[in-house]
Amino acid sequence: MNLNKFKKQAAWAALDYIYPGTIIGVGTGTTICYFIEALSTKKDLIYGAVSSSNSSTLLLQKQGIEVFNLKNFSSLTIYIDSADEINNHMQMIKGGGAALTREKIIAAMAKQFICIVDKSKIVNVLGNFPLPIEIIPMALSYVSKEIIKMGGNPKYRKNVITDNGNIIIDVYDMFITDPLSMEKKINSLPGVVTVGLFASRSADIVLIGTQQGIKTIKKQ
Ligand code: 5RP
Repeated sequence: MNLNKFKKQAAWAALDYIYPGTIIGVGTGTTICYFIEALSTKKDLIYGAVSSSNSSTLLLQKQGIEVFNLKNFSSLTIYIDSADEINNHMQMIKGGGAALTREKIIAAMAKQFICIVDKSKIVNVLGNFPLPIEIIPMALSYVSKEIIKMGGNPKYRKNVITDNGNIIIDVYDMFITDPLSMEKKINSLPGVVTVGLFASRSADIVLIGTQQGIKTIKKQ
């Protein structure tokens, strides 16, 4: 099934959460490409954006949206991003586009994280999508060995260097029943920059593109 229609639907629905004069945190990926297109229709209203990747920065600038350096900010009103998987606690796997570390920083800074997804991203248990981990290159063998001990099957993502100059491993065959403790455990391994599990900082609002229109879920 072609899911682009649902990605686009969710992306445009996010415009309802954009307020005049604010700086918008912008994620990365194909859904976010639609969002940047949508955001360009409000570019005269907003102050600008901070971006989670070089690719989103380029797209934002191409649309005439000013992109600010994240290092000059300590908080943000809103972050809009997608996910590879999201469960009913609004915890996510992210990093399919290798931007997980910057995404996690912006998510942590934002008062509100709005996750925009097509309906295929909704799952009961996280882990069918291989879990990305950004690591310092020299830690590849060590981190891989530790992940195998945890029951995962790590695969080095070939030909990918992150915007931070690191590498990615994707972990297959993980059935993540306790995302919070898994996130802590993997993040504590030396050499791990960050794991693409967004459990301690989950989403606040999820906008899901479906055949029946937009479904909105808000954190209780
Ligand atoms: C990038 C991400 C993306 O949000 C995730 O991969 C979803 O991407 P897409 O919108 O292309 O399905 O985490 O690092």
